[in-house]
Amino acid sequence: MVLIAPSILSADGSRLHEEITAVEKAGADWIHIDVMDGHFVPNITMGPAIISALRKTTKLPFDVHLMIENPERYIESFASAGADIITVHVEATNHLHRTIDIIKKAGKKAGVSLNPATPLTQIEEILPDIDLLLIMTVNPGFGGQQFIKTTLPKIIKASKMLNTLSNKPLLEVDGGVNMKNIAGIARAGADVLVAGASIFGTDDYQQTITALKAAANSN
Ligand code: DX5
Ligand code: ZN
Repeated sequence: MVLIAPSILSADGSRLHEEITAVEKAGADWIHIDVMDGHFVPNITMGPAIISALRKTTKLPFDVHLMIENPERYIESFASAGADIITVHVEATNHLHRTIDIIKKAGKKAGVSLNPATPLTQIEEILPDIDLLLIMTVNPGFGGQQFIKTTLPKIIKASKMLNTLSNKPLLEVDGGVNMKNIAGIARAGADVLVAGASIFGTDDYQQTITALKAAANSN
């Protein structure tokens, strides 16, 4: 089963509680939370205080995607705020192994993310230590961008790499996922699909998530 993780970046920010409740009712598997610092990416979003406030809203796993420089400094804060999965960018931390270790010692699942132009060779050696690999299929920073098609072979390659490992990290894909391309992305080997604009930009979340899941699991 391919999982769907709505990204609340595209939700109505003045009604985050209601938006999360609505996607949960509509069948969301995880809640994807994009944290941006205005340095690693050209946008600023939310931090641990908001995540902690939202924690009371749902029991769904909080999939926290840190698009911040030197994420190792904030792991503890996000862990206590209620993150279940903490994903850091390989491009944003100097000592990835140590950062992954900090996440695991905090009792959380550890994820690593790659920008579209970052090769898989950068994370080959860390794969046995992680729980999730997040492939960015847009340049991080904003919701509602177009899926970069050249990332599809990278997803296929990543999936093959992960399948040889005994720890079997999940393969997550983030950026520009929609009704038209979701089946192909799932076929390429994705286990978890993040979707922002293609869910929150519609009126009927139930219908949208049901359709996305059906397409993703049609392979
Ligand atoms: C982009 C974020 C994504 C974004 C996805 O930097 O990491 O999670 O919210 O949004 P869509 O699905 O609209 O591309
Ligand atoms: Zn994200």
